[in-house]
Amino acid sequence: MLPQRHDFPEGFLFGAATSAYQIEGHTQSGAGRTHWDDFAATPGNVVRAENGDLACDHLNRWEADLDLLAAANLDVYRFSTSWARVMPEGRGAVNGQGLDFYDRLVDGLLERGLKPAATLYHWELPSPLADLGGWRNRDIASWFADFAQVIAERLGDRLWSVAPINEPWCVAWLSHFLGHHAPGLRDIRATARAMHHVLLAHGSAVQALRAAGHQNVGAVFNFERALPADDSPEAAARAATYDAYYNRWFLSGIFHRAYPAEALAGLEPHLPQGWEGDFDTIAQPLDWCGANYYTCKRIAAAGGPWPALAEVDGPLPKTEMGWEIHPESLGFFLRRMQADYTGDLPLYVTENGMASADRLAGGRVDDQPRIDYLAAHLAQVQAVIAEGVPVRGYFCWSLLDNYEWALGYDKRFGLIHVDFDTLKRTPKASYHALARALAR
Ligand code: FCB
Repeated sequence: MLPQRHDFPEGFLFGAATSAYQIEGHTQSGAGRTHWDDFAATPGNVVRAENGDLACDHLNRWEADLDLLAAANLDVYRFSTSWARVMPEGRGAVNGQGLDFYDRLVDGLLERGLKPAATLYHWELPSPLADLGGWRNRDIASWFADFAQVIAERLGDRLWSVAPINEPWCVAWLSHFLGHHAPGLRDIRATARAMHHVLLAHGSAVQALRAAGHQNVGAVFNFERALPADDSPEAAARAATYDAYYNRWFLSGIFHRAYPAEALAGLEPHLPQGWEGDFDTIAQPLDWCGANYYTCKRIAAAGGPWPALAEVDGPLPKTEMGWEIHPESLGFFLRRMQADYTGDLPLYVTENGMASADRLAGGRVDDQPRIDYLAAHLAQVQAVIAEGVPVRGYFCWSLLDNYEWALGYDKRFGLIHVDFDTLKRTPKASYHALARALAR
């Protein structure tokens, strides 16, 4: 059973999160091509080569989707603005239709009493910028700041919060070292540059948002607990390395103006010249921080070049993503953020949820495992709040089943089931449970 609204402090916010490319239907309304379109069109990258062309067709169905958000008794909606929809070439000309869409969306949220929480970049880089090197090119910081300014000028007066970049680790490491996401590189020099430029772009966008008068600017990080796979000192050391480049790099850059030594051990030779001089831009003061949390990993020592580690199978029950369910680590990361980096800053769980093998039967989806998952993670949030960690809100990933990147439409994370043939929405049992728990 889910905890109830009144089990949380007064003013605690509950929300749901989505992202543009995963739900909107990218090809409509004059959006430009993105590196995700290119990545998906390359054989072997995405399950069945699926892409975001139509996705959930949210672009045309957004009003009904916002009605569902409101009927779930949620307080806030975390969505993203597609760079290529707003600026099809990534720079220069603005696509009026694209900006109008977000304008209507924001008004639609406010009309329904929902707070609009915008993320400016949730991974769909305009292809013309990818052609120029994308995240490997230092200029991305100023291109992105210009985009931030366009959004701030048009929507800034009505946005409740803005976060420049969703999950810098995925933008940099997952996409340039592991090659699992666009642009699908496996190159340590590209990785190191992306790891640094993503923070430089973050800081530059924060400056642009401040210059436009925005008051509630944050950052959203994803965390994965790195647990040593065995008792050896080697496994402990490799888990520390994983923790450094995954969980600590971005927080350290922003809050300590430095990168962790265990990560510099491999990345420093590949960082762009003069990187040490960029922390004045990177370390802009923030108003809040968000943690996206799903799972833990078991890390073992392996041969080969740095980081010389391997992920091995763990013993806990897993979601459809193959991710172990380990709620305690959410508590771990919230405590760590406050103790080591963010102090008194308000914290939000900006994403949490699970993919499950949901089946639509008789007009219903019984997703009890998702209810249990959410309940276990919300219990961790309650526990750390009781210890004094300033967590102020929690967002489910996701409102709708959607395009789960390289896994296409196979993995269902939604509170609402989407039939990808008819695009019909069916709220799942978890949606109804949440609506009951949050009723005022
Ligand atoms: C996060 C992403 C989100 C979704 C979930 C499952 O890393 O921010 O878009 O893919 O994972």
